[in-house]
Amino acid sequence: MGTLLYIQASPRGERSHSIAAAEAFLEVYRHKNPEDTVLTLDLFEEDLPPFDGRIINAKYSILHGEEVSEEDRNAWGQVERIIEQFKSADKYLLATPMWNFNIPYRLKQYIDILVQPTYTVEVTPEGAFEGLVTGRPMVICAARGGAYPPGSESDMQKPYLELILGFIGITDIRFVTVEPTLNEGPKVGERARAEGIQQARELAAEF
Ligand SMILES: Cc1cc2nc3c(=O)[nH]c(=O)nc-3n(C[C@H](O)[C@H](O)[C@H](O)COP(=O)(O)O)c2cc1C
Repeated sequence: MGTLLYIQASPRGERSHSIAAAEAFLEVYRHKNPEDTVLTLDLFEEDLPPFDGRIINAKYSILHGEEVSEEDRNAWGQVERIIEQFKSADKYLLATPMWNFNIPYRLKQYIDILVQPTYTVEVTPEGAFEGLVTGRPMVICAARGGAYPPGSESDMQKPYLELILGFIGITDIRFVTVEPTLNEGPKVGERARAEGIQQARELAAEF
């Protein structure tokens, strides 16, 4: 019995190709793991605190044992709860579009909240960074309007996610790439969606 955290980073609901692949994954996953809990986090609906100067100051004041206002303590508490929820999962499923060659801003905001020294990453006595969210696999359904072959310099979506998730310890990442959803017309887009759904189902059977 475990918990799978399902993070949605597309605001397009049923029209979203990344969500369609993720939902297909979930259908098989739920069937195979009926005892598991699936927690859904819709990043465009979720009340994510702005990661601004105030919250950064609150964090350092709390870590240094200084006086902080109740408002600042509550603001940092919200960050801590989001991190706790993330760390409470055993497995992850992420549905994300490519936006401007990278990830949507709400996912970046979520990452800025999650990646915190002492919470999700630590600095060893030798000064190296070591991720603290280890031993947990992630499936990423990544949708892109165009097609980006592996190693493409324009693809800052998949390499960035591998880099930042690896930084906090998540190294077992399996991609379902849904592309090209847009640039080669609706027929090709529909085929890419169907292939993504099929690939997601196959991944779920062994996740
Ligand atoms: C704001 C915005 C920016 C986008 N930027 C890119 C891009 O840089 N490269 C690309 O191939 N597609 C881009 N697209 C197209 C999306 O990646 C494509 O529609 C994808 O299917 C979206 O994922 P979704 O269907 O899960 O929402 C962009 C779409 C939007 C709305």
